[in-house]
Formats: sequence, C-alpha cells, structure tokens
Amino acid sequence: MSKKEDFLQQLKTLSNSLVWLSSIILFIGIFILVMALNPDIKLFKSSPEITEADVEKDTIVNINSNDIKDGIHTETGFVAGDGLDEVIGNCTNCHSAKLVTQNRMSRDGWLATIRWMQETQNLWDLGDQEDIILDYLATHYAPEDKGRRENLIVEEWYELK
Ligand code: HEC
Repeated sequence: MSKKEDFLQQLKTLSNSLVWLSSIILFIGIFILVMALNPDIKLFKSSPEITEADVEKDTIVNINSNDIKDGIHTETGFVAGDGLDEVIGNCTNCHSAKLVTQNRMSRDGWLATIRWMQETQNLWDLGDQEDIILDYLATHYAPEDKGRRENLIVEEWYELK
C-alpha cells in the first residue's frame, strides 16, 4: 500500500466516523427538541399528579367560605343559623348539600335519615353534634310552613306543577 493510498484510506475512515457521529448527535438533538416542544410527552416533566385527597381538600376549602347572602350560605345553599357549621362539616362530605336542602322532614324524620345513613352509608357517629344538627335541620328544613318561610326572603323559589 502506497503512502498516498494509506492516507486516503485513513481519511475515508475518519469521514465515515464523522458522518456517523453527526447523525447520532442530530438524532439526539431532534429527540430532545420534540420532547421539549410536546407537552403531552411526560418524559422530562415531573408535574405532580392531582390526587383524590387534593380534590377533597379543595372542596373542603371551598365550603369553608363563610359568605352568607340574604340568609343563605352561598357555597352550599344552606340557610344560615345555629348549627350551620356542624351541618356543613358533617353533611357535605358524601353528597351535595342540595340533597339535604331539597328535603323537608320533622326532627324524627331527620334522625331516621341519619340513622339510615349510619347503618347503610358509613355515616359516622355524630356525637355531641347530632343534637345541634337535628335542631338545625328540624328548624330550617321542617315539613312545609314551619321553619321554612320565616328564614327565606324570597317567597317563591320554584314552581311546582
Ligand atoms: C358517609 C357519607 C354520608 C354523609 C357524611 C352524609 N350522608 Fe346523607 N346520604 C349518603 C348517601 C350515600 C345517600 C344516598 C345518596 C343517593 O341516594 O344518591 C345519602 C342520602 C341522603 C338524603 C336523601 C335521603 C333520601 O331518602 O333520599 C338526605 C336527606 C341526606 N343524605 C342527609 C344528610 C345529612 C343531613 C347529613 C349530615 C348529618 C348527611 N346526609 C351526611 C351518605 C352520607
């Protein structure tokens, strides 16, 4: 092999390597670019997942607002009055407050509903708060005319046909 051929051979090897090397660098570059630009690919992102606990915390924070307008707690629609905090604390965890506010029952009726939820829906023992809650419900969500009208300023909430 002549010196010249030897040199050319080395040059060829070198340029081959350079082609390979730049191809690899180019490929990696494009890969990183795609990853950086595409928000759907989560390879480099460490965005924290939203857990159920966060959602629950959020709900509770929301309901902690004490905004009362025209005698109605705005977040929940509950009538303002003694026991409101206890009712919000115990009766909005599993279902919407609406399920409570759309019902009218006597004290016994409310107690029976609470017992039913305790027996079948995992409602906890309400302890000292039970009486306060029952007083509240029996006062503000009694069957028809008793507690209802005296607390509402708006006379007609909905039309029943
Ligand atoms: C541990 C969960 C839980 C808690 C806390 C809870 N409930 Fe319930 N409650 C339920 C479930 C489940 C139902 C059935 C929901 C449905 O039918 O969609 C229900 C239904 C109801 C109903 C409708 C009953 C019916 O006959 O349709 C009322 C009224 C009610 N709850 C009031 C309350 C009151 C008042 C409190 C607070 C003392 C309360 N709930 C707290 C689970 C709960």
